[in-house]
Amino acid sequence: MGEFIRTGLIGHPTGHSKSPLIHNHWIGACGLSGEYVAIDVMGEALAQEIERLKREGFKGFNVTIPHKQAVMALCDELDEPAREIGAVNTVVIGGNGALHGSNTDAFGFLQNLREEAPDFAFGKAPAVVLGSGGAARAIIYALLKTGVPEIRLANRTRARAEDLVANCVHPERIRIVDWDDRDGALGDASLLVNTTSVGMAGTEMLGIDLGRLPQGATVYDIVYVPLLTGLLESARDRGLTIVTGIGMLLHQARPAFKAWYGVLPEVTNELVAKVLV
Ligand code: ATR
Repeated sequence: MGEFIRTGLIGHPTGHSKSPLIHNHWIGACGLSGEYVAIDVMGEALAQEIERLKREGFKGFNVTIPHKQAVMALCDELDEPAREIGAVNTVVIGGNGALHGSNTDAFGFLQNLREEAPDFAFGKAPAVVLGSGGAARAIIYALLKTGVPEIRLANRTRARAEDLVANCVHPERIRIVDWDDRDGALGDASLLVNTTSVGMAGTEMLGIDLGRLPQGATVYDIVYVPLLTGLLESARDRGLTIVTGIGMLLHQARPAFKAWYGVLPEVTNELVAKVLV
């Protein structure tokens, strides 16, 4: 076994995070030596905590709510997705203590789509995105990169969608749709993505008429508890292609692991089963 490599997750709260389970599984599965720990940090303590990780020789860390934006100012370098999405979820600590910030959510979103819906034709038809939070920013960045001709964006609070588009590199390829008109946006779309938290265990249903989507369309829900959300169940009943959210969580973790441990790990059925428990 090689060097003992320490990594972790900075956020608040961190108790429900699956990241320690995922990364520690890969450390074992790849025969490496190291540990990934959850580090609960409140707002003011962020910079101080990062200094501690540097002193203790950490190789890097993930960043989650509420620090994904704040950590950007502390990074010495940001990769293109982090800059354009406006958030950092992965930091590598260089040998000189420099912080390299990146964002792997767009990679995770696309990799999961490619694996679960291999016939999906990017660039052919519009995509409809529901929601305008951090996840939506990463997904819109990813879809624009793949050449999707138009994104129709609907958010309950329209001003938040307007803010997202104003900060986007290709605002001309995004059309904002009123939340109440979301059914009408589905007509000739090939992809519907739910990035809102609606559908999470115990919360209400999205209330969208999937009958308006063309046959052959794909429905992708980033919510993964439950794995088959109400939205995905109705999509499946209609014969549409469905993509669950668990793969996005797992695939976004792979480039981070590679940056710290030097190996691009695999998403296996064993790991999926562990994470879904
Ligand atoms: P994340 O960073 O994970 O995307 P977020 O920033 O909290 O999370 O965003 C949550 C998204 O879910 C938002 O688009 C939110 O809509 P608002 O901007 O109007 O708050 C959306 N959302 C949450 N609850 C919702 C509900 N009951 N109906 C519709 N949209 C909802």
